[in-house]
Amino acid sequence: MVVARSAKSYVDGQAGVFNLCGYDIRDVAEKISFEESTYLLWHGHLPTRSELTAFEQEFRAARSLPPELIAFLKTVPHDAVPMYALRTAMSVLGLQTMKELPAQTPGEALAIVKKLAVSLTVRMGMIVAAIHRFRQGLELPPVRSDLGEAAHFLYLLNGTEPGTDAADAFDTALVLHCDHGFNNSTFTARVVSSSLTDIYSVLVAAIGSLNGPLHGGANVQVLPMLQEIGDPANAEAWVLDQLKNKRVVMGIGHPVYKVVDPRKDPLKRMATKLTSQSSAKLISIAEKVEEVMAREKKLHANVDLYSAPLFHALGIPTDLFTPIFAASRTTGWLAQVMEQLEDNRIYRPECEYVGPPVGREF
Ligand code: COA
Repeated sequence: MVVARSAKSYVDGQAGVFNLCGYDIRDVAEKISFEESTYLLWHGHLPTRSELTAFEQEFRAARSLPPELIAFLKTVPHDAVPMYALRTAMSVLGLQTMKELPAQTPGEALAIVKKLAVSLTVRMGMIVAAIHRFRQGLELPPVRSDLGEAAHFLYLLNGTEPGTDAADAFDTALVLHCDHGFNNSTFTARVVSSSLTDIYSVLVAAIGSLNGPLHGGANVQVLPMLQEIGDPANAEAWVLDQLKNKRVVMGIGHPVYKVVDPRKDPLKRMATKLTSQSSAKLISIAEKVEEVMAREKKLHANVDLYSAPLFHALGIPTDLFTPIFAASRTTGWLAQVMEQLEDNRIYRPECEYVGPPVGREF
């Protein structure tokens, strides 16, 4: 049911349409950067050249993590699930930096979110990179101010500057994941922020929601699935066996899209462009899975079927796929929280009561 009005993203699941502030997501993904799409989401219009330069400058100036947070991140067990580490780190960051009780009015809460938005977005990515570096016993490399967000993230993660193709492909993936209507984690962010609680609590809740296997957590399961199938020639029998045993095929189906997810083609194109021989095979397997599921169940590929081979081709470990999704979606969560606070009313839905008769004798 419709629970709110939003001017951020438009999703038509029957027609396979996804627009960001009115623009087709395929154009947005192809033509603009992660920073530019973030500006679009937060301001509702594309930046002029000078607005973009100033905005990019804000991102670059925000590249730091408080030493206390770095100290905390170094205590995270090396075998911790990165999404749990990210969720806890966001809470720790709030504990270390938020010294006041939550704002009392939507206007005050909105001012705080606007002030912190760039820094929270940058830090979300930096925390993901730090979790990965520290669990290998490595330090974060010194931050740089000559790289865009996508390239800078890959640089922090690997310690080396990525090539242009890799940075472009990763940038496209970030843009494609940045917002998507009232998905579960975005709705969570709006519900939690509507109580006027602090923004760190909002982000912790949204990360928790995204981690679920029916939402962002699905992308970590796609790669093992493709690897288990092993060869395009095995895909048909594998999928038919899953269906016979009533098991879910990951990367297929969507709560909203009843046709192909419009984010699929740009991701597939980027994955194909980057691909090495081993990931080319993964893409062929994914294509076969897609074909059999469309034929057998009229269910189609979602964003995860090709983001997994793309991230794999970029050398990103599987357990970072969902944290990276969170880092990108942070811009959408913040955009939607700002929109919520501009015209806030606390979410307080009703449920249908099905308990014992009312007025039961005690
Ligand atoms: N594999 C096997 N069967 C699937 C399926 C999949 N990936 N996706 C849906 N189905 C089945 C449903 O169980 C349902 O069966 P039923 O009619 O016997 O109950 C039928 O197909 C229609 O499902 P639909 O209403 O279109 O989707 P949903 O809202 O029930 O489920 C998801 C949506 C996303 C939870 C589901 O498609 C799924 O689990 N996909 C795999 C996980 C994934 O990739 N998630 C990322 C989403 S972006």
